[in-house]
Formats: sequence, C-alpha cells, structure tokens
Amino acid sequence: MKFNTIKNLSKNIKGLSLLALVVITPFALADKPEKPEKPEKPEKHNITIGEIPAIEVHLNQDEIEDGKINVYDLIKQGQLIFDARFNYLDGRGRPASTGAGADRDPNGQHDFLRTSGPDSSACASCHSQPFSGGAGDFVANVFVLAQVLDPITFSVDPNFSNERNTLGMYGAGPIEMLAREMSDDLIAIRESTKQQAALTGQEESAQLITKGISFGSITILANGLIDPSNIEGVDWDLIIKPFPQKGAVVSLREFTNNAMNHHHGIQSVERFGEFTDPDQDGVVNELTVGDITAITVFQATLPVPTQKKPKNKKVKNAVKNGVNQFANIGCNECHQEELVLESRLFVEPNPFNPAGNLQQSEVDNLFTWDMTGKKGTGLEKFKQGAIVKAFTDLKRHNLCDQDFDFFCNEQLTQGSLLGYADANDFTMSAPARPTQQFLTRKLWDVANSGPYGHRGDLSSITEAIHFHGGQARVSRDNYFELDQYDQDSIIEFLKTLGVFEASNIKKR
Ligand code: HEC
Ligand code: HEC
Repeated sequence: MKFNTIKNLSKNIKGLSLLALVVITPFALADKPEKPEKPEKPEKHNITIGEIPAIEVHLNQDEIEDGKINVYDLIKQGQLIFDARFNYLDGRGRPASTGAGADRDPNGQHDFLRTSGPDSSACASCHSQPFSGGAGDFVANVFVLAQVLDPITFSVDPNFSNERNTLGMYGAGPIEMLAREMSDDLIAIRESTKQQAALTGQEESAQLITKGISFGSITILANGLIDPSNIEGVDWDLIIKPFPQKGAVVSLREFTNNAMNHHHGIQSVERFGEFTDPDQDGVVNELTVGDITAITVFQATLPVPTQKKPKNKKVKNAVKNGVNQFANIGCNECHQEELVLESRLFVEPNPFNPAGNLQQSEVDNLFTWDMTGKKGTGLEKFKQGAIVKAFTDLKRHNLCDQDFDFFCNEQLTQGSLLGYADANDFTMSAPARPTQQFLTRKLWDVANSGPYGHRGDLSSITEAIHFHGGQARVSRDNYFELDQYDQDSIIEFLKTLGVFEASNIKKR
C-alpha cells in the first residue's frame, strides 16, 4: 500500500509539471518570431556509399616534413592504417608478387593463404594482445620464410618455414633508438681500430662493448681486412637489428614495408615505386611514403610497458624478493634490467635503413619526437637521455645444449651474418645467421605476451625458463635450485611487467 501511494504521488507530480508546461508554453510561443528557413547543409564531399577502401585519405610526406600535420593526427592516422582491414580497393592481395616482393606467375594464386600469405586483413589481426600494437596468441603465428618460397600451400613443415609467435610493439620506439646508439658505438670502435692498424701497420684488436654489453671482439689486419671470427651475437656489419626474434630487421619502417606486402599484399611506394603495379592487382600507390611514416610513428610512440605495483603485502614482498633473485641467479646477464639511452628523441627515418625504405638523405626535415615528453611514451628520463627497462641486451644467444634443445627447432636460415657489410672487407665469407640463436627476448611485456618462446608453444613462464639451456644453462639451473618461494617470487615479479595502458591517442 505504502509503495502504491508513493507511486501515485510521483505520478501526480509528473502530471503537475506537465500541466505547468502546457500553461506556460503558449506565452512563450507568442513572442517568438517566425522560424527562419533552415539553410541547406552543404553536401559533404567524398562521401561514397557502397564498397570503399579501408584507407580513404593518404598522407603527403612533404606535409609531414613541413610540420603541417600535427603529430597526434599523424599517430592517429598511423593507428588507422595499423587497424585497417584492407580490401581490394586498397590494393589488398598480390597475385604477381611473392611475400618477399619477387615476381611470380599471377595465375592460380591464392588470395588468402595461411602459410605464405597474404594471411590476414590487418596488422592488428595478429598484434592485438592486450591492445592494438601488442603481441598475439599461437593462432596469430607467422610461417616466417614461407613468404620467400611463396606459395607454400598447406604445409607448416619446418622444411618450409620457421613458425614464430607474434611480438608486441609497445616500447618499440626506445628499442629502435637503443639499437641505433649501440650500432654507432660498435662502428666507432671498428673505425678507430682500423685507423690504429693503418697507423701501426700491424694487426689490431678491440673489445666490442656498448652500454656495458660485450659483442665479442674485432681484429683488423695490417692490410685493413676484418677478421670477424670473434664477433658475437650481432651481424658483421655491427649494425644491431632489434627486430624480430632473429635480429634481422633494422627499423620499424623496414619491418612495416616488408609486412605490408607479406601479410596483406599492400605495396608501399617507397618499396615498389610510384605508379607501378608489380603485384598486378590493378591498384597503384597503395600506401604513400607519408602513410608509412604515420604507421611507423604510431608503433614507435606506443607507450612503454610498465611495472604494475602490487597492493597486497604478500605479493609485494614476493615481487621485491623476485627482483633480487632474478639478478642474483644471473637472469639479468642477458635480460638487462635497464639500458641507458643518450638521447630522448625518436628520429625517423633510421639512418641504417636498407634500400627500398625511406633514407635520411631523401628527407628535408627529420621527424623527431621526445619519447619522455608529457604526452610521450612514459619513458623514464635520465640525465639528457632516458632509461629503457626492457630486460634485453639486443644480442643473439644460443639456449641449446645436450640436455635442452627445445629452442633449436628451426631448420631454415634467415639471412647472412654479413648484414649490410661488403663481403670484400672480411678475411672469410659470411655464414648464415645461426638457426640456433635468437635475440634475448624482451621481458617488459611478459605478463601479457604469452604464450611463450619464439614459436609461442609454451603456456607458462616456468616452461620457458625450463628450456633455457646453452648460454643460459647456469642461470637456468640456479633457478631450479632455488626453493619454491624464491622461484614463485621470480614468476610473481615477471607477472608485474606488462602493457596495462593502450595507445590512448585521445588522451595525448
Ligand atoms: C599473421 C600475423 C601477423 C600480421 C598480420 C602482422 N604481424 Fe607483425 N609480427 C608477427 C610475428 C609472428 C612476428 C614475430 C616474427 C619473428 O620473430 O620472426 C611479428 C613481428 C613484428 C615486428 C617486430 C617486433 C619486435 O619487437 O621484434 C613488427 C615491427 C611488426 N611485426 C609489425 C607489423 C606490421 C606493421 C604489420 C602490418 C603491416 C604486421 N606486423 C602484421 C605476426 C604478424
Ligand atoms: C644467455 C642469455 C639468457 C639468460 C642468462 C636468460 N635468458 Fe631468458 N631468454 C633468452 C633468449 C635468447 C630468449 C628467447 C628464447 C626463444 O624463444 O628462442 C629468452 C626467453 C625468455 C623467456 C620467454 C619470454 C617470452 O615472451 O617468450 C622468459 C620468461 C625468460 N627468458 C626468462 C628468463 C629467466 C627467468 C632467466 C634466469 C633464470 C633467464 N631468462 C635467463 C636469453 C637468456
């Protein structure tokens, strides 16, 4: 009953206000001048109905260089391209080109092919964990090098490809810049050793150390030839290629030009030329130089992964203990907790870009961006530079020995140790990059980069540690000799490292 009364009351109140409104409105209306006619809205241009390309607007590199495009609009456009589900109007598909860009017979080719590609509609189809630009599950694996033997139909046999798991690009800008600074250091060591050898007329050697990480040593003979036999974990050109797990690609831009063609059959102007149609899909200029700058800058400016601060005291203590144990047992010999960048700027394009990618000499103004700025990547400032807490040394290692060879499953070699160097500069010919070696995996996003291992076939962090043999054997054995609490502490610590914030461009 009581309930009913209240209901009725509210009904009455509503009725009252309605009455008041009715009473008041005629007066208000009486004073109002006649409504002017609504001006006709100008018709919006470029609105097309029906099928449209995923990317309707393409960017002009000159306008980017002239600062006419606001940096956050550039990043936004980059994300649009990264997330775009390309269709045939964009030039998706590559009947007459392999995934490596070589010519092929366009007849009878597959429009989508899970092995050698085109294998998907968007970069974000694979890179989505936990947000666009991130890592991917096993189902997003790529059959690396099948794009070279393209088309590999219906075979995922290791004779035809190296199956690899999708990595995340959060923090990729600082990683690319670290690699550049380290390469500059190593090249400077080589050049000064060369000068020394020329000066003394004798063989000279030097340790290849940059940012505290040793890449072995280099010897220059009296005749100027380089003896590369003691170079470790990097190509003989001493240019650190921080992408992907093999360490074969120097820049986000180079990777993007490769991936656009490989995964989607989208051929960029800077790789395939202007007004040319090598893939014979009837579309030219599929992505402009400006478009590639945008998607590169989008990836480079993704936030750096962070460490989540646990609230629970038990967890807090375990994480604190885990940090110490991780260092005590030698995990950080490869998974370097922090590396210092001399400069805070991300600079595009990369001076080491190979041909087929925008060169520094081709631009009037380099694109520069402070990675530690207020709307930056969240990278921590340090002196004039910054600290990168990625837990890697950007060096290749072999994790296999007699007992553990899980990480040595691959059979196809990926490029040669010569890198971009001239074969005539060395005392011997360059072998292929070793199939057993991989770059120390970045651990700063390990909380949400699973499944683990280069093939993504390990479901837990513990399994990944278990298979650390070879150069990591000592620290691996140390780990399993720890008591359960200390082991759990390391896992708990690693679980705090991840991507917890999407690229929130609106906030910037
Ligand atoms: C079919 C899934 C898939 C698609 C689509 C895809 N990627 Fe990837 N991406 C991967 C895998 C797998 C790797 C790791 C490859 C390896 O280690 O050899 C990777 C690695 C990368 C890396 C190197 C990251 C690092 O830290 O080393 C970059 C950069 C990248 N992708 C950019 C792109 C861009 C840009 C696109 C769209 C043009 C794209 N990817 C489309 C699966 C994919
Ligand atoms: C000799 C260098 C080295 C040492 C020491 C080392 N690691 Fe690694 N770690 C690597 C390399 C290289 C990989 C990539 C392996 C692969 O997938 O091929 C890796 C991968 C991992 C992964 C998998 C990450 C992922 O996303 O797939 C984890 C977890 C890991 N390491 C943890 C540890 C821990 C914990 C220790 C100490 C017990 C340790 N590592 C010691 C080089 C090392």
